[in-house]
Amino acid sequence: MTITMEQLTNFAKTYGFVYQGSEIYGGLANTWDYGPLGVELKNALKAAWWQRFVQEQRNVVGLDSAILMNPKTWEASGHIGGFSDPLIDCKACKSRHRADHLIEQHDASVSADGMSEEALTEFIHTNRIVCPKCGKFDYTPIRQFDLMFKTQLGVVDEKTQAIYLRPETAQGIFVNFKNIQRTSRQKIPFGVAQVGKSFRNEITPGNFIFRTREFEQLELEFFCEPGSEMTWFEHFKAASKQFLVDVGLHPDNLVLADHPQEKLSHYSNATTDIEYRFAWGFDELWGIASRTDYDLRQHQAHSQEDMTYQDPQTNEKYLPYVIEPSLGLDRLFLAVLNDAYHEETLGENDTRVVLKLHPFVAPYQIAVFPLVKKKHRDKAFELTDQLAKRFRLTYDEAGNIGRRYRRQDAIGTPFVITVDDQTLEQQTVTIRERDTMEQITLPMAELNAYFDQKTRF
Ligand code: GAP
Repeated sequence: MTITMEQLTNFAKTYGFVYQGSEIYGGLANTWDYGPLGVELKNALKAAWWQRFVQEQRNVVGLDSAILMNPKTWEASGHIGGFSDPLIDCKACKSRHRADHLIEQHDASVSADGMSEEALTEFIHTNRIVCPKCGKFDYTPIRQFDLMFKTQLGVVDEKTQAIYLRPETAQGIFVNFKNIQRTSRQKIPFGVAQVGKSFRNEITPGNFIFRTREFEQLELEFFCEPGSEMTWFEHFKAASKQFLVDVGLHPDNLVLADHPQEKLSHYSNATTDIEYRFAWGFDELWGIASRTDYDLRQHQAHSQEDMTYQDPQTNEKYLPYVIEPSLGLDRLFLAVLNDAYHEETLGENDTRVVLKLHPFVAPYQIAVFPLVKKKHRDKAFELTDQLAKRFRLTYDEAGNIGRRYRRQDAIGTPFVITVDDQTLEQQTVTIRERDTMEQITLPMAELNAYFDQKTRF
């Protein structure tokens, strides 16, 4: 099923998944608020990732580090001075472009990533690449645009210190490496996972929640012995793709794109992007990088703290190498919503929209309907309250049953329980399954076990 980005954005807004940020004030460009259904789906995606990559792993532990960090962190990581995009403005129509993107759009065989400012300027001029918006050739010189948001710590003007909103969660893990290793008594190889907001003053945000200035990352830094990193790199490539398939993405919509050697960042000896087939084509969803010992080495040099690990068997001291699978939660959300969206024809003049979400991540896992409002409401409330201790539930008594089913289909609720006379007389309920629309009858006493099994990830 293909759905345009505009249709998906409208769908997300209509049902309360995602709204435009600050809408009553005319919005704030490229900011989005997750509504009642959106926050449930987002939390469930985080929970699925955490379960798979932390809870189920003997050698991965978690962290929640501060967004605001000592600015020396960003000097060490290379973000200060190095985390910028080359920007060029069209003087004629005032549109703004990334110079490297202009070149790559002009000639897809050219890799402009990493080109110097002079090389970018020369290429644009030699090839007379015109403004894609107005067709003129009248540019400002290239300027480097800093991607980090700057703010101030402290209230008294003279005493304030410039600090930054973190552009990735990863550095919080690196600076805590020794703390975590010591307190969790993990031995190499082991990983540290973190979920949290990151901020980048992107020049070209867009495509709904795909590229925004405030976004959430699910990052894992896996520390291993130098020389073993390629084995772990391959492991995380496979494990990450498997997670995406398990959470509901169709394998045909995923590709692994290895970065060619000449395009690797200076700290990486191998990088792969898992790309998803978004409405506009395949694009990056999850970056998996082998980062060598670059980050720990940098922090060791800048902080003067020993960041080495001592092997308990050989007593050898070394800086561990790192494999980093880094996933954007908002992009995962977008891919999952896109993949789950289906429009089905059920019969003549009868269609339904159905979100085929995995029951573990569906905003509501179960909906409870009383067949007749007045007669069955009390029992339906009782059941809702009981099941809500273990599952995400919604209750609906408005309109006829057919309408109520359609609404639950559209928001992806995998199971609907109807409370009727048999429930009052025999303590049984009817359960209707979203995708097959088949119905079964079960004793109320068996519901917890049934849904436990059905909603497991
Ligand atoms: N620590 C490594 C790192 O941050 P990255 O490739 O810059 O690597 C990792 O980002 C992931 O974070 C991306 O694959 C993407 O899913 C997500 N991401 C990055 N920038 C984003 C943005 N502006 N909006 C939404 N998601 C973003």
